[in-house]
Order: sequence, then structure tokens, then C-alpha cells
Amino acid sequence: MKRPVGVLISGRGSNLGALLAAARAPDYPARIALVLSNRADAPGLALAADAGVPARVIAHREFGADRAAHEAALDGALRAAGVEIVCLAGYMRRLTPFLVGAWAGRMLNIHPSLLPAFPGLETHARALAAGVRLHGCTVHLVTEGVDEGPILAQAAVPVLPGDTEATLAARVLAQEHRIYPAALAALASGVAGPAADGAAALANPLPGAASAA
Ligand code: GRF
Repeated sequence: MKRPVGVLISGRGSNLGALLAAARAPDYPARIALVLSNRADAPGLALAADAGVPARVIAHREFGADRAAHEAALDGALRAAGVEIVCLAGYMRRLTPFLVGAWAGRMLNIHPSLLPAFPGLETHARALAAGVRLHGCTVHLVTEGVDEGPILAQAAVPVLPGDTEATLAARVLAQEHRIYPAALAALASGVAGPAADGAAALANPLPGAASAA
């Protein structure tokens, strides 16, 4: 049984595209049941339409400063669609404890750095400025702290001589598209999830993992 997933976007939607593509495989353990955008002009909405997936705009602007009402509308739409797991995919609104708590352990985010390095925005420019030799991306469970939740998957890429923000971003993005579907599959199939102590954990470690620990 494929578990129904809701994807929240604000823009381009390339990670949404990667999730939609992965979910087409018959043996993938999740299906994209709903796409929500807080912006009517998000290009990613077209990807949902092309894939025949229901998509809705719930514009934060219509709610003014009332973040709680906006999040209640998002939550209501997700529940009405039977969603069990939420993926943030370039969703550019900071969430309040209400929505984070409502989906605790069942909400993922993709972030374009090797967390805990470079939380927040402008990650590629900051990585270049810091002179790091490795950069990358992270899929993590969403908690109240921004970009702070337990890590489910990471991929590293080299920072190469002559890299610009654009070339580095493109190298990282290719890895985002690989690890986000993999992390969602792990959560949806119960292989990975929140541990009792709040960390992310493999629920069913691979054979041999225990002896190696
Ligand atoms: C990605 O780099 C993602 O890691 C970050 O926002 C960007 C969204 O890109 N959270 P897209 O909309 O998925 O193409």
C-alpha cells in the first residue's frame, strides 16, 4: 500500500518533480496525494498538473498576519486528502509549533547544506565564502528549530576550484533529487523514523548493523 504524501512548495518544484517521478514506480511505498503552494505563481504547480496530482494554492497573503489561520487551512487540506506524511520541498514559510506538532515525526524537509552547517538561506554562497571543500544536502525530520530536526539522509559533493554559486547549487541539487525520494521511501516503509529519544533512527537496521555498532 502506497502511503499518501502531501508536498508543500513555494517555487520551482524540482524536488517535487523528483518525488513525483520516484512515486511512479509500482514498488515505491508512497504516492503524492496533494500538492499545496503558498504562492499562486509557483512554477512547481504545473508539475503537479502534468502528473495529474491535485494541487491547491493556499496563499499566505490572504491570511495577512494570521499565521495560525494559514496553517490551519494547510492542515485541513492535508487531512481532507488523507495525507499521512508531509514533505516540505522548497516551502519558504517558517512553520509555527502548531503545524510542526501536528505532523511530528511525519514531516520531512530538504535543505541544501550538510546540516548542521549552514542552516537558513544562501547556503551555497556561504559555503563558498567559508572555503569548505565539501558541501551537500540533508533530509531531516521537521522540528520547531529551523533546519534542526533529526537527520535521515545526507549527500556530500566536492567544492571545486572555480565553482560559482550556480555551479555548486546545480551539483547539490542533483543529489537532492536522489536523496529526497530515498528518505521518503525509508520513512513511508517504516525503515526509518523518529526514535524514542527524538533522534532519527533506522527501525529495522540492515543485517550486520548491530554487530558493527
Ligand atoms: C532546494 O534547494 C531545497 O533544498 C531548498 O529549496 C530549494 C527548492 O528547490 N529547501 P525546488 O523548488 O525543489 O526546485
